[in-house]
Amino acid sequence: MQNIEDIRKEFIVRIIESSTPRELLKSSELKELYSTVGTLPVEDRAAFGKSVNELRMQLEEAVQRREAELENASIESIDITAPWDVNGSKLSLLPTEQGTQHPLTHELEQIINIYTRMGFEAIESRQIDDDFHMFGSLNFPENHPARDGYDTFRTEEGFIPPAHTSTMQNRILVEGKEKLEKGGQIAAVSYGRVFRNEDVDTTHEHTFYQCEGVFVSATATLGEMLGTLRAFFEAYYGQTLKIKTQPGYFPFVEPGLEFAIEKPAAIGGKPGEWLEMLGCGMIHPNVLQSAGIDPTKYQGFAWGGGVERLVMLKYGIEDLRHFESGKLAFLREFTS
Ligand code: PHE
Repeated sequence: MQNIEDIRKEFIVRIIESSTPRELLKSSELKELYSTVGTLPVEDRAAFGKSVNELRMQLEEAVQRREAELENASIESIDITAPWDVNGSKLSLLPTEQGTQHPLTHELEQIINIYTRMGFEAIESRQIDDDFHMFGSLNFPENHPARDGYDTFRTEEGFIPPAHTSTMQNRILVEGKEKLEKGGQIAAVSYGRVFRNEDVDTTHEHTFYQCEGVFVSATATLGEMLGTLRAFFEAYYGQTLKIKTQPGYFPFVEPGLEFAIEKPAAIGGKPGEWLEMLGCGMIHPNVLQSAGIDPTKYQGFAWGGGVERLVMLKYGIEDLRHFESGKLAFLREFTS
């Protein structure tokens, strides 16, 4: 018979290496060892029985340790904040060196570059805001039906994920007031995510991007606004464009306009095919006043609209939902 110490060493090693360690406790060698206790002379039995019991306990502990180790090894940790391939059957992390910019990020950079070169300061909009910036500062009267036109979400606390980037107008005006009063002008664009509680289809998303401009000076005119917009769109599409406007209602501008461009022939447009690109107008005196700017001395214009619409037209993208889908097949078309 092997001595107990040898058996202990051998079994500990076998347990550590086994993927079914509890099976080892049932092995015939151990059973034989345990059964010899009863066959020993009475005077040897107590000491030998004690050693065998110790061995049993030690092996049981080793099995438990090994089982815990095996259980841990089968739990793969995942980082749910990491980028992952939604097309795969299971979350597997994408190596960052294979990543590229999202097409919207790339296009927003282009858009901001154009505006920055034109002299506008670019600031990112907020993703959670309040009633004052969404409505009050923008000349929406309390309980006015125009508030319903924006399909706003609201948190339980009463905050608002902004439904347009116009929520930044009051901040831009307050910030620029001093410069204006020193004889300068306010020229800023805000950009960022906006949210609307509306049904999703090929041209509507609950989450999308907007870009918005604000310009104020002692002499700003509607003509300057149209010139600014034409210059922007021609730079973005890289060609000359025909533009037109029609009246539009937004409580924060007066007059309010909808601005359209003729769809460029280079991307399949026919003469007379107009595409509405954004809302715009002269900033309402009440909006200037709510930022502490004297509307009898200063005037300005503002414009704002969806970013996806611009990008869809540029690349012939037919479904707005692609942008937020995370589909690799779509994203790979933009990995230049
Ligand atoms: N915020 C308006 C919208 O989302 C667009 C707009 C911006 C209109 C600025 C006029 C001036 O519908």
